[in-house]
Amino acid sequence: MKGVILAGGKATRLRPLTQVTNKHLLPIYDKPLIFYPLEAMARAGVEEVLLITNPEYSGHFLNLIRSGREFGLRVTYELQEEPGGLAQAVGLAEPFARGSKILVLLGDNIFTHDLRPPVQRFGAQERGAVIFAKEVAEPQHYGVVELDGEHVLGIEEKPAAPRSNLAQTGIYLYDERVFSFMDRLAPSARGELEITDLNNLYVAERSLRCEILEGWWIDAGTSHDELLEANVRVAELRRAGLL
Ligand code: G1P
Repeated sequence: MKGVILAGGKATRLRPLTQVTNKHLLPIYDKPLIFYPLEAMARAGVEEVLLITNPEYSGHFLNLIRSGREFGLRVTYELQEEPGGLAQAVGLAEPFARGSKILVLLGDNIFTHDLRPPVQRFGAQERGAVIFAKEVAEPQHYGVVELDGEHVLGIEEKPAAPRSNLAQTGIYLYDERVFSFMDRLAPSARGELEITDLNNLYVAERSLRCEILEGWWIDAGTSHDELLEANVRVAELRRAGLL
C-alpha cells in the first residue's frame, strides 16, 4: 500500500493566518500540522508517501520534511498547479501509485484511531474503497454518510438537511482502479472535482465500506475555532501520552 497526503488549497477560511503560508505548516501545539498525517502514515505501516501541495509554498514543505527519513518514510512531492479539488489532487498520484492500492489522508485531519488493522484488511480485499466516519454535532459542515451496516448508501457534501450525524473524515482507502474513475467526474458548483463525488462512484457499484473512527478526530483546517481546539486537545493528548 502506498500513501498520499493532500496538502494544497488556499485556506481562505483561515485568513489572515494563511495569507503568506500554507495552512498545513501552521502550528498544532508543538509541531506543524503536516507532521500529524505523516506520523499517521508511519503508524499505519505505509512507508512510501506522495505529498501533494500547491506551488506557492512547496519549497517550505521540502525544507521541513526533506526525504521523510525522520518519520521513517520515503516522501516524494507533486504539485497541484491549480485549485481543482481534492479528487483532482488524488488523480495526480497515478504515476506514483503505479498499480498499488492507496491510503489517502487529508493533511489537516488529526486522529488517534489505529489505521493498521483496516489498512491490512483492505490490502487483502480484492476491490472497492473504504471511508471512515465519525459522529459529530454539526454534520452539515462535512460530507454526510448514510449507512446500511458497514455498507455506504450515499454521501452528501455539506447538505443543509443532513440525513445522519456521521461525518466523512479525511481518511480514504482506494483500490488501483480509482484513477480510471477520474474522467467520470464533473466539476461541482464551486468548480472543483469533489472527493465525495469520487466516493459515490464506488457507492454506485456497491463497493464502498465505512468504518467508524474510534477515539478523537478533528479537521483542524475548517475554522479558527477548530484550529484552536486542535491545539488545546493535542496538548492534552500528548501530556496523557495518547498521541
Ligand atoms: C472535505 C470533504 C468532506 C469531508 C472533510 C473532512 O471537506 O469534502 O466531505 O467531510 O473534508 O475533513 P473540506 O474540509 O475540504 O471542506
